[in-house]
Amino acid sequence: MSWKTLDRHTPQFDSEAPPLIGAALKQKILNFVPRYETSLAALLPALHMAQETLGYLSDQALVEIARILDIPPSRVLDTASFYTHYWRKPRGRKVVMVCRSISCEVTGGREVLAECKRLLGIDEHETTPDGEYSLVTEECLAGCDHGPCMLVGEKLHKHVRPEQVKDILADPNNDRIDGPRSSLYDGLKTDGKKTETAE
Ligand code: FES
Repeated sequence: MSWKTLDRHTPQFDSEAPPLIGAALKQKILNFVPRYETSLAALLPALHMAQETLGYLSDQALVEIARILDIPPSRVLDTASFYTHYWRKPRGRKVVMVCRSISCEVTGGREVLAECKRLLGIDEHETTPDGEYSLVTEECLAGCDHGPCMLVGEKLHKHVRPEQVKDILADPNNDRIDGPRSSLYDGLKTDGKKTETAE
């Protein structure tokens, strides 16, 4: 393993660029601050809100969040780069997550991941050039007794075989392949009851 030296002195974006975080989003973030003892504690929701609005967390967005919360930019970068659900690069329209935990590992998760990589032509944490798919691995998708599992958007595919990956990925809006789903990912009916699922 070799250390990679990071250049902390050259600005990574145009400091004269117009702000990415507009007044409405800034206020939304500030509304969270009084809930906590310190503004640092509002960092996770602030990052989520910024990502939801901007699509991903660029260097400029991180610096703006640091200013809004009055905390060092390094703390914001540390946090944003630690959690896999924060995106530091543009993410695809469909996010494909393949489980890498033990139950899925022993039931063929590696082969499913390899097939995803082969078909998409990208590695983990990369996005296809057309911006359609991003591929990540994740610790446990809450379907351990139905491995191997992969999640596309919010739809969980269980018992996935490598030869099924092509159809799952090709499903245009991720709603045609009618595989079994985890009740955890099904929405609530308007009457507040859980949707029935076929297991
Ligand atoms: S181990 Fe894969 S879903 Fe839990």
